[in-house]
Amino acid sequence: MEEEGGEEYLFKIVVIGDSAVGKSNLLSRFARDEFDANSKATIGVEFQTQVVQVDGKEVKAQVWDTAGQERFRAVTSAYYRGAVGHCDTTVARMLVGNKCDLENIREVSVEEGKGLAEEEGLFFIETSALDSTNVIAAFEIVIRAIY
Ligand code: GTP
Ligand code: MG
Repeated sequence: MEEEGGEEYLFKIVVIGDSAVGKSNLLSRFARDEFDANSKATIGVEFQTQVVQVDGKEVKAQVWDTAGQERFRAVTSAYYRGAVGHCDTTVARMLVGNKCDLENIREVSVEEGKGLAEEEGLFFIETSALDSTNVIAAFEIVIRAIY
C-alpha cells in the first residue's frame, strides 16, 4: 500500500507466516542489522519504520511484524485484511524462504518454493536473517515493485 505526500513515500509491508520461521529476525536484520538467537514469539502485531533510499528518493517502509502463533490468528488476519482492503493500487506479494543457512536440514527445495510462488503469482526469494543473505534484497524487491 502506498501513500504519496510531496516527495515522500510511505510503503506498508506486512510480514506473515507460521511461528518461528524468523519474521521478527528478518525485520530486525533489515532495520537494525541485529539478530537474536533467543527471540521471543511476537504477541499480536508490532511495527517499525525504516527509511530507505530508492533511486535517490526517500521511502519510508513501515513494516508490520505479525504473530505467527495460532492463538493470535484472528488479530493478525484482521490487520492484513485491512491492509489489502484499503489498497486501491498495487499490492506486491513475495514468498520468502527464510533460514537458508540451514542447508543441511532443508525441508523444501528451491524448485518447490519457486514453483509455488509461480503458481500463486508471487516473487520468490530465499533469505537468512542469521547470516544476512538476501535480507535487504527481499525488502528492496518488494519496495521497488510498488514504488
Ligand atoms: P513468531 O513471532 O512466533 O511468529 O515467530 P517469528 O517468525 O517472528 O520467528 P523469530 O524471528 O522469533 O525466530 C524464531 C527462531 O528462529 C529464533 O530462535 C531465531 O533466532 C531463529 N531464526 C530466525 N531467522 C533465522 C535464520 O535465518 N536462520 C537461523 N538459523 N535461525 C533463524
Ligand atoms: Mg515474531
